[in-house]
Amino acid sequence: MPEAPLLEVEALRTLLGGERPFLRAPRPPVRAVDGVSFTVRGGEILGVVGESGCGKSTLGRTILGIQRESAGVIRLDGRVVSGLAPRTARQARRDIQYVHQDAGAALDPWWSAGRSIEEALVVSGVASGSERAARIDRVLTAVGLDLGVKHRYPHELSGGQLRRVTLARVLVLAPRLVILDEPTSGLDLSVQATVLRLLRDLLRDLGLTYVFISHDLSVVRQMCARVAIMYLGRIVELADTARIFAAPAHPYTRALLAAAPGLTPGVKLATTVAGEPPTPTAVPSGCALRTRCVHAREICAAAVPALESMEAGGAVACVRWRELAAPAAPAPR
Ligand SMILES: Nc1ncnc2c1ncn2[C@@H]1O[C@H](COP(=O)(O)OP(=O)(O)OP(=O)(O)O)[C@@H](O)[C@H]1O
Ligand SMILES: [Mg+2]
Repeated sequence: MPEAPLLEVEALRTLLGGERPFLRAPRPPVRAVDGVSFTVRGGEILGVVGESGCGKSTLGRTILGIQRESAGVIRLDGRVVSGLAPRTARQARRDIQYVHQDAGAALDPWWSAGRSIEEALVVSGVASGSERAARIDRVLTAVGLDLGVKHRYPHELSGGQLRRVTLARVLVLAPRLVILDEPTSGLDLSVQATVLRLLRDLLRDLGLTYVFISHDLSVVRQMCARVAIMYLGRIVELADTARIFAAPAHPYTRALLAAAPGLTPGVKLATTVAGEPPTPTAVPSGCALRTRCVHAREICAAAVPALESMEAGGAVACVRWRELAAPAAPAPR
């Protein structure tokens, strides 16, 4: 029997906001994650891609357990770790760690890098000072930093060094699954390349698994075996990276690839999506893309399209994907 996936996410939903401010009209909640399902196998890198505000970070924070899910199931190694109170949820998911999208904001500006890393160990219950010191030195070496960095403050570190420190702070806790939120944003190309190489080496050497959140398709193509494409809180396509780039099936995936020219030579992509995304508090009924999709028909408003398996591999959530993929019928004579 095949091994259970390391992580299984089933119909996950996260509602944000929706407060009732004093003497003011209640704000409708945002369905930041709305019925997301996927699995991650041990040792793989799953990419999560989508434009700003589509719910990538919320998905990561919900899997981590610092944001409570409103519905759905999360399994780690086949064990259900969802539906728990926040404290218990983090305890049950201690094998999962999250690297914040803003490396600077993730560290306390008044604490040296060494103290920030040590604090993570203190919170996780490592009582022995000498053990903490040894683990800090080991992890700093693993992420390629000089031990002198321990005494430096965040403002004394470069962007690349900050990334390595934030990475060290989660790796020191010996996680199995790391959610990397935009791990290369804001880095210049050469630093980006070294960070990506480091991430790959760490995956292999420490036996890690990554959920790799990014809006940079070229980085995702380099790093990930499979990719989930998100639009307004839902996964619209999920497949092997090679299939996604060679034959994107969802109109939204095509639009994303068309907006990154040079990534898909040989794949002709016509414009499929127009206008701006709707506000997240007023997502259209049925397919969330339908108000922007040039292929939309009445049927697209009827129901939220389910992710449907494709013969070519992977899955797509578009009721018209078969017609759109079929070559145009010859014109009648
Ligand atoms: N505390 C909150 N209350 C209400 N809505 C929120 C809250 N936090 C985030 N949102 C909304 O939830 C949606 C998803 O946000 P999220 O940060 O997960 O997006 P993202 O895909 O990570 O974006 P980016 O690429 O810019 O990091 C957005 O519409 C955002 O405005
Ligand atoms: Mg984000």
